[in-house]
Amino acid sequence: MQAEAHERHAAVGTAALELEDAAVSRGGRSIWKGVTLRVEPGEYVAVLGPNGVGKSTLIQAILGLLPLAAGSLEVFGRPPHEAASLLGYLPQRHSFDSSLRLRARDLVRLGLDGNRWGLPLPFAPGNREIARRVDEVLEVVGAAAYAGRPVGELSGGEQQRILIARALVRSPRMLLMDEPLESLDLGNQQAISSLARDICRTEGVTVIMVAHDVNPILGDLDRVIYMAGGSAVIGRPEEVITSEKLSALYNAHIEVLRTSDGRLFVVGQQPEAISYHAHD
Ligand SMILES: Nc1ncnc2c1ncn2[C@@H]1O[C@H](COP(=O)(O)OP(=O)(O)OP(=O)(O)O)[C@@H](O)[C@H]1O
Ligand SMILES: [Mg+2]
Repeated sequence: MQAEAHERHAAVGTAALELEDAAVSRGGRSIWKGVTLRVEPGEYVAVLGPNGVGKSTLIQAILGLLPLAAGSLEVFGRPPHEAASLLGYLPQRHSFDSSLRLRARDLVRLGLDGNRWGLPLPFAPGNREIARRVDEVLEVVGAAAYAGRPVGELSGGEQQRILIARALVRSPRMLLMDEPLESLDLGNQQAISSLARDICRTEGVTVIMVAHDVNPILGDLDRVIYMAGGSAVIGRPEEVITSEKLSALYNAHIEVLRTSDGRLFVVGQQPEAISYHAHD
Protein backbone atom coordinates (compact mmCIF):
# COMPACT_ATOMS: atom_id res chain seq x y z
CA MET A 1 0.00 0.00 0.00
CA GLN A 2 2.77 2.39 0.95
CA ALA A 3 4.72 1.47 -2.18
CA GLU A 4 1.70 2.44 -4.29
CA ALA A 5 1.42 5.72 -2.39
CA HIS A 6 5.11 6.25 -3.09
CA GLU A 7 4.65 5.75 -6.85
CA ARG A 8 1.54 7.91 -6.99
CA HIS A 9 3.23 10.81 -5.22
CA ALA A 10 6.41 10.35 -7.20
CA ALA A 11 4.40 10.87 -10.38
CA VAL A 12 2.60 14.05 -9.35
CA GLY A 13 2.86 15.59 -5.87
CA THR A 14 5.34 17.70 -4.02
CA ALA A 15 7.93 15.66 -2.15
CA ALA A 16 8.15 15.91 1.63
CA LEU A 17 11.92 16.06 1.21
CA GLU A 18 13.96 16.41 -1.93
CA LEU A 19 17.74 16.63 -2.19
CA GLU A 20 19.48 17.07 -5.50
CA ASP A 21 23.22 16.63 -5.73
CA ALA A 22 23.38 18.07 -2.22
CA ALA A 23 26.63 18.50 -0.27
CA VAL A 24 27.48 19.69 3.22
CA SER A 25 30.84 20.72 4.67
CA ARG A 26 31.65 21.38 8.31
CA GLY A 27 34.82 23.05 9.51
CA GLY A 28 36.06 23.13 5.90
CA ARG A 29 35.70 19.35 5.55
CA SER A 30 33.24 17.67 3.19
CA ILE A 31 30.83 15.48 5.20
CA TRP A 32 28.71 14.17 2.33
CA LYS A 33 28.14 15.14 -1.28
CA GLY A 34 26.28 14.06 -4.40
CA VAL A 35 23.20 13.15 -2.36
CA THR A 36 20.05 12.90 -4.47
CA LEU A 37 16.94 11.50 -2.85
CA ARG A 38 13.22 12.07 -2.47
CA VAL A 39 10.94 11.19 0.46
CA GLU A 40 7.17 11.17 -0.09
CA PRO A 41 4.61 12.64 2.33
CA GLY A 42 3.54 10.10 4.94
CA GLU A 43 6.56 7.83 4.53
CA TYR A 44 8.46 6.33 7.47
CA VAL A 45 12.15 6.46 6.59
CA ALA A 46 15.15 5.47 8.72
CA VAL A 47 18.58 7.06 8.33
CA LEU A 48 21.30 4.47 8.90
CA GLY A 49 25.08 4.49 8.80
CA PRO A 50 28.20 4.38 10.98
CA ASN A 51 29.11 6.99 13.62
CA GLY A 52 30.31 10.29 12.21
CA VAL A 53 29.01 9.71 8.68
CA GLY A 54 26.71 12.75 8.82
CA LYS A 55 23.26 11.49 9.86
CA SER A 56 22.66 14.26 12.41
CA THR A 57 24.17 16.66 9.87
CA LEU A 58 21.43 15.62 7.42
CA ILE A 59 18.75 16.32 10.05
CA GLN A 60 20.32 19.72 10.77
CA ALA A 61 20.36 20.55 7.05
CA ILE A 62 16.64 19.65 6.82
CA LEU A 63 15.97 21.94 9.79
CA GLY A 64 17.75 24.74 7.94
CA LEU A 65 20.45 25.01 10.60
CA LEU A 66 23.27 24.28 8.15
CA PRO A 67 23.71 25.73 4.67
CA LEU A 68 24.48 23.38 1.78
CA ALA A 69 27.89 23.59 0.14
CA ALA A 70 26.31 22.57 -3.18
CA GLY A 71 23.08 21.30 -4.72
CA SER A 72 19.59 21.82 -3.36
CA LEU A 73 17.39 20.66 -0.49
CA GLU A 74 13.65 21.33 -0.35
CA VAL A 75 11.15 20.53 2.39
CA PHE A 76 7.57 20.35 1.08
CA GLY A 77 8.73 22.28 -1.97
CA ARG A 78 10.26 25.12 0.05
CA PRO A 79 13.76 26.06 1.18
CA PRO A 80 14.31 24.65 4.70
CA HIS A 81 14.16 27.97 6.53
CA GLU A 82 10.68 28.57 5.13
CA ALA A 83 9.49 25.12 6.20
CA ALA A 84 10.50 25.32 9.87
CA SER A 85 6.89 25.60 11.08
CA LEU A 86 6.09 22.27 9.37
CA LEU A 87 8.76 20.35 11.29
CA GLY A 88 8.82 18.59 14.65
CA TYR A 89 12.26 17.70 15.99
CA LEU A 90 13.59 15.32 18.60
CA PRO A 91 17.34 15.97 19.09
CA GLN A 92 19.94 13.27 19.68
CA ARG A 93 20.75 12.51 23.32
CA HIS A 94 19.00 14.23 26.13
CA SER A 95 18.59 13.21 29.67
CA PHE A 96 16.63 14.76 32.44
CA ASP A 97 17.95 15.19 35.91
CA SER A 98 16.03 12.85 38.17
CA SER A 99 15.25 15.83 40.39
CA LEU A 100 13.45 17.69 37.56
CA ARG A 101 10.01 18.45 38.99
CA LEU A 102 8.44 19.68 35.73
CA ARG A 103 5.38 17.55 35.04
CA ALA A 104 5.45 15.53 31.82
CA ARG A 105 2.36 17.25 30.41
CA ASP A 106 3.90 20.69 31.04
CA LEU A 107 6.95 19.64 29.03
CA VAL A 108 4.63 18.68 26.15
CA ARG A 109 2.88 22.05 26.47
CA LEU A 110 6.25 23.82 26.10
CA GLY A 111 6.35 22.44 22.56
CA LEU A 112 3.61 24.94 21.70
CA ASP A 113 5.76 27.93 22.60
CA GLY A 114 7.80 29.52 19.86
CA ASN A 115 11.21 27.93 19.67
CA ARG A 116 14.19 27.75 17.45
CA TRP A 117 12.64 25.35 15.00
CA GLY A 118 9.13 26.69 14.89
CA LEU A 119 7.63 30.04 14.14
CA PRO A 120 5.19 31.44 16.69
CA LEU A 121 1.74 29.97 16.23
CA PRO A 122 -0.44 31.96 13.81
CA PHE A 123 -3.19 32.12 16.44
CA ALA A 124 -3.15 32.41 20.20
CA PRO A 125 -4.94 29.33 21.46
CA GLY A 126 -6.94 29.62 24.65
CA ASN A 127 -6.01 27.56 27.68
CA ARG A 128 -8.79 25.06 27.00
CA GLU A 129 -7.65 24.50 23.42
CA ILE A 130 -4.07 24.08 24.60
CA ALA A 131 -5.10 21.53 27.22
CA ARG A 132 -7.16 19.64 24.62
CA ARG A 133 -4.27 19.47 22.15
CA VAL A 134 -1.84 18.36 24.89
CA ASP A 135 -4.27 15.60 25.94
CA GLU A 136 -4.68 14.55 22.32
CA VAL A 137 -0.96 14.04 21.67
CA LEU A 138 -0.43 12.37 25.06
CA GLU A 139 -3.11 9.91 23.92
CA VAL A 140 -1.45 9.41 20.52
CA VAL A 141 1.88 8.46 22.12
CA GLY A 142 0.25 6.37 24.85
CA ALA A 143 1.56 8.52 27.71
CA ALA A 144 -1.69 9.76 29.27
CA ALA A 145 -1.31 7.52 32.31
CA TYR A 146 1.91 9.14 33.54
CA ALA A 147 1.50 12.65 32.11
CA GLY A 148 0.98 14.14 35.58
CA ARG A 149 4.25 12.79 36.97
CA PRO A 150 7.54 14.72 37.08
CA VAL A 151 9.62 14.05 33.93
CA GLY A 152 12.73 13.29 35.99
CA GLU A 153 11.00 10.30 37.58
CA LEU A 154 9.98 8.65 34.32
CA SER A 155 11.85 5.77 32.68
CA GLY A 156 13.84 6.32 29.47
CA GLY A 157 11.06 4.84 27.34
CA GLU A 158 8.40 6.96 29.04
CA GLN A 159 10.51 10.11 28.62
CA GLN A 160 10.94 9.28 24.95
CA ARG A 161 7.17 9.16 24.42
CA ILE A 162 6.78 12.50 26.20
CA LEU A 163 9.43 14.03 23.94
CA ILE A 164 7.70 12.65 20.86
CA ALA A 165 4.45 14.19 22.15
CA ARG A 166 6.24 17.52 22.57
CA ALA A 167 7.52 17.33 18.98
CA LEU A 168 3.99 16.48 17.75
CA VAL A 169 1.99 19.05 19.69
CA ARG A 170 2.22 21.69 16.96
CA SER A 171 0.90 19.20 14.38
CA PRO A 172 4.04 19.10 12.23
CA ARG A 173 3.88 17.56 8.76
CA MET A 174 7.32 16.03 9.25
CA LEU A 175 8.79 14.54 12.40
CA LEU A 176 12.60 14.36 12.57
CA MET A 177 13.95 12.08 15.29
CA ASP A 178 17.68 11.68 15.90
CA GLU A 179 18.33 8.26 17.50
CA PRO A 180 15.16 8.12 19.61
CA LEU A 181 15.76 4.40 20.23
CA GLU A 182 19.16 4.89 21.84
CA SER A 183 19.35 3.32 25.32
CA LEU A 184 15.91 1.74 25.09
CA ASP A 185 15.41 -2.00 25.54
CA LEU A 186 14.35 -4.05 22.53
CA GLY A 187 10.67 -4.04 23.49
CA ASN A 188 10.62 -0.26 23.81
CA GLN A 189 12.55 0.18 20.55
CA GLN A 190 9.88 -1.81 18.77
CA ALA A 191 7.08 0.06 20.57
CA ILE A 192 8.49 3.48 19.61
CA SER A 193 8.99 2.27 16.04
CA SER A 194 5.40 1.07 15.71
CA LEU A 195 4.30 4.39 17.23
CA ALA A 196 6.27 6.17 14.48
CA ARG A 197 4.58 3.98 11.88
CA ASP A 198 1.12 4.76 13.33
CA ILE A 199 1.86 8.50 13.32
CA CYS A 200 2.66 8.18 9.59
CA ARG A 201 -0.42 6.12 8.78
CA THR A 202 -3.04 7.86 10.89
CA GLU A 203 -1.77 11.46 10.97
CA GLY A 204 -0.13 11.48 7.52
CA VAL A 205 3.09 12.77 9.09
CA THR A 206 6.37 12.02 7.32
CA VAL A 207 8.77 10.45 9.83
CA ILE A 208 12.54 10.53 9.37
CA MET A 209 14.29 8.63 12.13
CA VAL A 210 18.03 8.21 12.63
CA ALA A 211 18.66 4.73 13.99
CA HIS A 212 21.69 2.70 14.90
CA ASP A 213 20.27 -0.77 14.26
CA VAL A 214 17.74 -1.45 11.55
CA ASN A 215 16.54 -4.78 12.94
CA PRO A 216 14.04 -3.62 15.58
CA ILE A 217 12.36 -1.32 13.05
CA LEU A 218 12.68 -3.39 9.87
CA GLY A 219 9.05 -4.53 9.87
CA ASP A 220 7.65 -1.00 10.23
CA LEU A 221 9.79 0.97 7.80
CA ASP A 222 8.89 2.08 4.31
CA ARG A 223 12.41 2.91 3.17
CA VAL A 224 15.91 3.58 4.46
CA ILE A 225 18.50 6.23 3.69
CA TYR A 226 21.86 4.52 4.07
CA MET A 227 24.81 6.86 4.54
CA ALA A 228 28.40 5.74 4.10
CA GLY A 229 31.60 6.77 2.35
CA GLY A 230 30.56 10.44 2.15
CA SER A 231 27.31 9.83 0.31
CA ALA A 232 23.88 8.22 0.67
CA VAL A 233 21.36 5.99 -1.09
CA ILE A 234 17.64 5.54 -0.50
CA GLY A 235 15.43 2.52 -1.12
CA ARG A 236 13.45 -0.23 0.51
CA PRO A 237 15.58 -2.08 3.09
CA GLU A 238 15.85 -5.20 0.93
CA GLU A 239 17.08 -3.06 -1.99
CA VAL A 240 19.60 -0.97 -0.08
CA ILE A 241 20.95 -3.26 2.61
CA THR A 242 22.61 -5.65 0.19
CA SER A 243 26.27 -6.64 -0.16
CA GLU A 244 26.39 -5.08 -3.62
CA LYS A 245 24.92 -1.67 -2.71
CA LEU A 246 26.88 -1.27 0.52
CA SER A 247 30.15 -2.42 -1.04
CA ALA A 248 29.73 0.31 -3.67
CA LEU A 249 28.83 2.90 -1.02
CA TYR A 250 31.77 2.02 1.27
CA ASN A 251 34.08 1.30 -1.65
CA ALA A 252 35.11 -1.87 0.19
CA HIS A 253 33.92 -5.44 0.44
CA ILE A 254 30.83 -5.53 2.65
CA GLU A 255 28.82 -8.63 3.48
CA VAL A 256 25.19 -8.46 4.45
CA LEU A 257 24.13 -11.53 6.39
CA ARG A 258 20.50 -12.45 6.93
CA THR A 259 19.60 -14.72 9.82
CA SER A 260 16.81 -17.29 9.58
CA ASP A 261 14.47 -14.91 11.44
CA GLY A 262 15.11 -12.17 8.89
CA ARG A 263 17.53 -9.96 10.83
CA LEU A 264 20.29 -8.21 8.92
CA PHE A 265 23.95 -7.92 9.84
CA VAL A 266 26.38 -5.72 8.02
CA VAL A 267 29.96 -7.03 8.18
CA GLY A 268 32.84 -5.30 6.46
CA GLN A 269 36.52 -4.50 6.42
CA GLN A 270 36.18 -0.97 7.68
CA PRO A 271 36.04 -0.64 11.47
CA GLU A 272 32.94 1.58 11.28
CA ALA A 273 31.14 -1.00 9.18
CA ILE A 274 31.96 -3.70 11.70
CA SER A 275 30.82 -1.56 14.61
CA TYR A 276 27.46 -1.30 12.89
CA HIS A 277 26.46 -4.77 14.04
CA ALA A 278 27.78 -4.28 17.56
CA HIS A 279 24.18 -4.20 18.81
CA ASP A 280 24.14 -7.89 19.72
N1 LIG B 1 29.67 21.65 14.82
C1 LIG B 1 30.53 20.94 14.09
N2 LIG B 1 31.63 21.50 13.55
C2 LIG B 1 32.50 20.79 12.81
N3 LIG B 1 32.35 19.47 12.54
C3 LIG B 1 31.26 18.86 13.04
C4 LIG B 1 30.30 19.56 13.85
N4 LIG B 1 29.34 18.67 14.21
C5 LIG B 1 29.68 17.51 13.65
N5 LIG B 1 30.83 17.61 12.96
C6 LIG B 1 31.51 16.54 12.22
O1 LIG B 1 30.69 16.16 11.14
C7 LIG B 1 30.75 14.75 10.94
C8 LIG B 1 29.33 14.19 10.94
O2 LIG B 1 28.78 14.35 12.24
P1 LIG B 1 27.31 13.88 12.59
O3 LIG B 1 27.03 14.32 13.96
O4 LIG B 1 26.40 14.32 11.50
O5 LIG B 1 27.49 12.30 12.49
P2 LIG B 1 26.44 11.15 12.82
O6 LIG B 1 26.33 10.30 11.60
O7 LIG B 1 25.18 11.74 13.34
O8 LIG B 1 27.21 10.33 13.95
P3 LIG B 1 26.65 9.58 15.28
O9 LIG B 1 26.17 8.22 14.82
O10 LIG B 1 27.89 9.46 16.13
O11 LIG B 1 25.59 10.41 15.90
C9 LIG B 1 31.64 14.20 12.05
O12 LIG B 1 32.91 13.96 11.51
C10 LIG B 1 31.68 15.31 13.06
O13 LIG B 1 32.89 15.31 13.75
MG1 LIG C 1 24.25 11.73 15.17
